[in-house]
Amino acid sequence: MDFGWSKLVPLLVLLASLLFLHIKSPPKLHHSECSLLPYHHYWITSKRIITPQGVISGAVEVREGNIASVVKEEDWLGNVRRGQVVDFGEAVIMPGLIDVHAHLDDPGRAEWEGFPSGTKAAAAGGITTLIDMPLNCFPSTVSKEALKLKIAAAEDKIHVDVGFWGGLVPENAFNASALEDLLDAGVLGLKSFMCPSGINDFPMTNASHIKEGLAALARYKRPLLVHAEIQLESENYLELRYGSDEARLYSSYLTTRPPSWEEAAIRELLTVTSDTRPGGPAEGAHLHIVHLADASSSLDLIKGAKIHGDSITVETCPHYLAFSAEEIQDGDTRFKCAPPIRDIANREKLWEALLEGHIDLLSSDHSPTVPELKLFDDGDFLRAWGGISSLQFVLPVTWSYGRKYGVTLEHLVSWWSERPAKLAGQELKGAIAIGKHADVVVWDPDVEFDLAADHLVYHKHPSISAYIGKRLSGKVLATFVRGNLVYEEGKHAPAACGVPILAR
Ligand SMILES: *[C@@H]1O[C@H](CO)[C@@H](O)[C@H](O)[C@H]1NC(C)=O
Ligand SMILES: *[C@@H]1O[C@H](CO)[C@@H](O)[C@H](O)[C@H]1NC(C)=O
Ligand SMILES: [Zn+2]
Repeated sequence: MDFGWSKLVPLLVLLASLLFLHIKSPPKLHHSECSLLPYHHYWITSKRIITPQGVISGAVEVREGNIASVVKEEDWLGNVRRGQVVDFGEAVIMPGLIDVHAHLDDPGRAEWEGFPSGTKAAAAGGITTLIDMPLNCFPSTVSKEALKLKIAAAEDKIHVDVGFWGGLVPENAFNASALEDLLDAGVLGLKSFMCPSGINDFPMTNASHIKEGLAALARYKRPLLVHAEIQLESENYLELRYGSDEARLYSSYLTTRPPSWEEAAIRELLTVTSDTRPGGPAEGAHLHIVHLADASSSLDLIKGAKIHGDSITVETCPHYLAFSAEEIQDGDTRFKCAPPIRDIANREKLWEALLEGHIDLLSSDHSPTVPELKLFDDGDFLRAWGGISSLQFVLPVTWSYGRKYGVTLEHLVSWWSERPAKLAGQELKGAIAIGKHADVVVWDPDVEFDLAADHLVYHKHPSISAYIGKRLSGKVLATFVRGNLVYEEGKHAPAACGVPILAR
């Protein structure tokens, strides 16, 4: 083979100039490391693009990370077509999912999950933004100093955009300047617990703390997220012992956290959420109840508060919609979470409430740990860590289990993108529309697969997920974050170019 040196000269010149440029402008990453696609301006096309105006066949123009236009096929073919085109055929193009409730445990407990693995899983699951919870990391995000540690831990390690909730705890609740420091530092809102959180440096709050929190948040127009369970010594509360035979029964675990705990907490919350009504002392603040499990009295209370004008929303999680107490095997602690997964009748009511709009949105509550704290030989539900690992699967799970209830692609966008964007104050995200960030998931709703722990699961501890072994429908083909193709068919972009989202 004739390998002429002359052919190498232009290459060497190019290499030298690249090197020179690199030295001149140091830390900026070359775009190709952030994206599996080497274009700044391109079109993605498909027959099924879910826009706020309905499903269209057409094209989305992406320019410098934003959506520059959205056009129907006939208009696009007719005149505007210019630049690179990536055709996804019949696949669905939707706004990327926004998970407002995930625990990535970084810094401090990164061995439980961590920013790199958690955000890789998110990208592979079509989640383009997630908001990290202020606890299970160490220290908990309850001060501006702790938030700085969080941001430092996230730097160059996140594959999707990540925002942060701060913690409302007794230590800062009555200290307006401490809360202002935390909010000024950029948390998107606050989170608190009405029962012990299971984490020592994240103590629970009562109604007085929550009232103070709402007053501070009103000035910033940001939400308070609350874990709504109050420990009651109800008559059916069993004194269970660790390691006892009863402790491996799922029915025992259920009796330790009855629906009355959720109801009591929400009843107490509603004594302060009236402050958020128009003209009230905390107008501008908003209260969001996380992971509702009880679809009976608790939900009725929330419906009533909405009618009265309280600024209040509620989420539930895929595991409450997918599973029921009846099917959980004794000793299978993968299914332990708090509040617990309740019975079939309750699950049916959750679906109904979601479809009727009484439940506003969905979140993963991805809350992993190490297998040694989650799975025990004796199957002890009391000792096991409470939390379900699901981050990567929420899209196919919602779709697979929702189809028989008539869930549509528009429902998915509303529950997983539009409303979460609103809750987190991200008006540039959550829709396929001009001017928004090009945060996009491309997926095929009809591809079925058996979820196996050893196959393309990016969670740090796949084996602890309750979904392993399930047959699901809906395969994520590609995920774009601000125009970067961060994931495609089992491959991630080499660099982690997600951005920490800080409120201003
Ligand atoms: C309130 O918080 C500020 C800032 O974090 C701190 O300097 C101050 O000591 C706190 N005040 C009280 C009374 O704890
Ligand atoms: C909440 O706890 C604080 C102490 O941190 C206490 O001063 C306050 O009275 C309590 N409020 C209620 C409603 O129990
Ligand atoms: Zn949680």
